[in-house]
Amino acid sequence: MKSLVAALRGERQAVPPLWLMRQAGRYLPEYRKLRETAGDFLTLCYTPDFATEVTLQPVRRFGLDAAILFSDILVVPHGLGMSLAFREGEGPVLEPLRSASELARLEPARLLDRLAPVYEAVRRVKRDLPAEAALIGFAGAPWTLATYMVEGGSSREFRRVKDWAYREPGSFVTLIERLTEATIAHLGAQIEAGAEAVQLFDSWAGVLPEAPFRAFVIEPTRRIVAALKARFPEVPLIGFPRGAGLLYPDYVATTGVAAVALDQHVPLSAAQAMQRQCPVQGNLDPLLLVLGGAAMDEAARTILAALRQGPFIFNLGHGIVPETPPAHVARLVELVRG
Ligand code: CP3
Repeated sequence: MKSLVAALRGERQAVPPLWLMRQAGRYLPEYRKLRETAGDFLTLCYTPDFATEVTLQPVRRFGLDAAILFSDILVVPHGLGMSLAFREGEGPVLEPLRSASELARLEPARLLDRLAPVYEAVRRVKRDLPAEAALIGFAGAPWTLATYMVEGGSSREFRRVKDWAYREPGSFVTLIERLTEATIAHLGAQIEAGAEAVQLFDSWAGVLPEAPFRAFVIEPTRRIVAALKARFPEVPLIGFPRGAGLLYPDYVATTGVAAVALDQHVPLSAAQAMQRQCPVQGNLDPLLLVLGGAAMDEAARTILAALRQGPFIFNLGHGIVPETPPAHVARLVELVRG
């Protein structure tokens, strides 16, 4: 069995499997070159040959234990019919969906047809991937997708989405339920196309207080896990409720995720405690990967020493940033393989 899949099933690996969130992207010269040929980011995502090549680039260069499909969490709102553009230096821009009366704009029946090129990329990556490497599919979790859909893009304070969620939770739950169904369909299609594990990115889970965290993060995740377990009992789901803090253990216990991705703010003592619940993945600060040198080596060794006795996957606490020197990634791989 592939090392990543074995670790996700709870089998401790002598050498922990290693992959990195956002392992494909602008820090790699070969990515920047293909990105220029494609013209824009969404063309990369929706052209199966391009998406396949970009997915494989970091696996080839560094010999990582997994490929993560090259795509974006925002293809789901796009596939549901929302406009989406990525503007240089500005991030994603969507035509915002601000109230219950606008839910009719969403077209769930067309999602899988519109995203067919994504599933074709999954099939091609699976065909071309080195035998030892596993293929990870992914999706954004409903709450995080809702933040981009309601705010119309990235946000600092999340005022509009919180305004709707707090003022009118009944209709906001309808939005979350639509996104829950879409996420189940999107992950299911990736698994059918060959994904061997999936990760659910709830990048903005940490901005919610306890009660809405339970309603809009834990509950939809529990439903997604249950639906996928019923259809694909062998395929593990990694939950990533970034910033969940003291609510991490409840998230794991209540949702039933196979494994949990930890951000860099989770103390290693808490990570060790969670290893009794499920395999853990993480949690080097991505800025240490920019810095490299002794500081990176020491932090990586500390994480390994704390977590390698249990089921563990080495990763960052969040995605690689564009300023990261590829040589530092190569050094990290060498250190983890030890
Ligand atoms: O990890 C991988 O290598 C797979 C690819 C991947 C991308 N986005 C490619 C991407 C994955 C897993 C994502 C997930 C994603 N996308 C998340 C969740 C993870 C996280 O970082 O919290 C979120 C919130 C998004 C939404 C998104 N996509 C934003 C806010 C941006 C703009 C910010 C930026 O970095 O420019 C993107 C664009 C994006 N997604 C890029 C890449 C490589 C950069 C696009 C480019 O080439 O210009």
